Amino acid sequence: MNKILHVAAECYPIAKVGGLADVVGALPKYQEKSGITSEVIMPFYQKPFTQTNELQCISNDLVYLGQTPYEYEILEVPKTHLGFTIYLVKIENLTDRTEVYGYHDDTERFTAFQKVVADFILQIQQKPDVIHCHDHHTGLLPFFISYAHKYESLKDIPTVLTIHNAQYQGEFSFDKLYYFPEYDLNHSGILEWDHQINPLATAIKCVWKITTVSPSYLIELQKNANGLESLLSHENKKSLGILNGVDPEVWNPKIDPLLESNFGLQNIASGRNGNKAWLCNKFDLDNTKPLMAFIGRFVYEKGSDLLPAVITSIFDQLKLDVTVLILGSGDSGTTEQLKEVKEKYKGKYNHHIGYNEKLSHIIYGGADFLLMPSRVEPCGLNQMYALRYGMIPIVSKVGGLIDTITDVDANENGFGITIANVSVHEISFGIQRAVDIYNNKSFYSKKRKQIMKIDNSWDSSAKQYINMYHSLIKQ
Ligand code: ADP
Ligand code: GLC
Repeated sequence: MNKILHVAAECYPIAKVGGLADVVGALPKYQEKSGITSEVIMPFYQKPFTQTNELQCISNDLVYLGQTPYEYEILEVPKTHLGFTIYLVKIENLTDRTEVYGYHDDTERFTAFQKVVADFILQIQQKPDVIHCHDHHTGLLPFFISYAHKYESLKDIPTVLTIHNAQYQGEFSFDKLYYFPEYDLNHSGILEWDHQINPLATAIKCVWKITTVSPSYLIELQKNANGLESLLSHENKKSLGILNGVDPEVWNPKIDPLLESNFGLQNIASGRNGNKAWLCNKFDLDNTKPLMAFIGRFVYEKGSDLLPAVITSIFDQLKLDVTVLILGSGDSGTTEQLKEVKEKYKGKYNHHIGYNEKLSHIIYGGADFLLMPSRVEPCGLNQMYALRYGMIPIVSKVGGLIDTITDVDANENGFGITIANVSVHEISFGIQRAVDIYNNKSFYSKKRKQIMKIDNSWDSSAKQYINMYHSLIKQ
């Protein structure tokens, strides 16, 4: 095996909305370290990275959606930048925008992108041995190369789909079928799920192998996959759960340039206190109290809608002596409620509404406990970053959280706080348990040291992916 081509909508540090970017920015690097060429192709967006780096145009042409032509360029980010080569597909009026998602024409944007990717693979001399697609934005590509006449010569290249999140499927109406390259219409059923074109379902049906980002999520998907449960159960034989990893070149508290105060196992307390002092000063919080933090998107799956009520409950009912800091954005209802909470509990609660990479690192490096009451969590990276930075996670028992966090009371090696049900009562109780841990100074310091030593690096997962590719090539 020589070459893998990853196809994705996000890749850190070029464009990041969530964990997908972290994975696509790390996995190829560790595959390269294992001796295979691993490349990424993604859309070009107007982001600081693309605005400040010189990118070389390696090809340009037109891509059509029906009769409408769009000019595109493929720009190369050489391997020297990130440890693997990246191709950015800049399609005029479609991908060339500031945000990754959220536009009314996302269907057009990602369909055109995938057509360009298929053309790109057709043109390049050294074809990939495996095409590895990530999430629904790239879910039509396996269909194009399997069934469109134009890509006939590519149909024997093995394809893999990694499901990072099955809640989002990218479905759209059959009215837009004319965007697609010509294919034998007998295969239209592959595109269909619930009377619509469903890119995630399409990929699940077409690809040679499906992976999920944790083993537990694979099991959960049989029961909870936003309508795709039966399909995923049916395709279970070709599915495999591989846990995500942490990239220690980005997430290393000793050298992390985004931290206010760097630290290692020898100076956990003083290093972490430096970051906590910075946070408490900036957000007007009492530095002597245990600091609970949430980082993430305000969406139902993350349980963020419960946070305003949790904050009220821990301060008014349980009268806990803690402080709370939230970094995130999303649902406007949650944001409004948090603003009210902020007024009410000045000095005890504060937030930054928005996305801020630097602040997220300082929170991992300084806040005491991470709140992660997710209802759905395919893997979750926050809890793994928290562990690496000595921050104890309070998590629900779902998906990747089951696979990465053991409750302190489960056995003597336990190190986290787990909550059985995602409810205001149980999250508040989890915070109460955190306060007890915080107050037991020797236990708290022992656990911080223990969690920082946990190895969640990519090495083992990258190997599992490579073994899986080998098994496909042999087929
Ligand atoms: P998801 O991809 O579902 O959002 P993950 O836990 O896999 O969840 O990854 C989230 C990633 O995004 C982590 O790197 C986390 O630190 C980061 N992140 C989430 N929200 C923010 C934010 N508001 N500011 C900075 N980083 C954020
Ligand atoms: C998705 C999931 C998250 C996972 C990430 C990276 O965004 O919601 O749980 O960690 O992808 O795989």
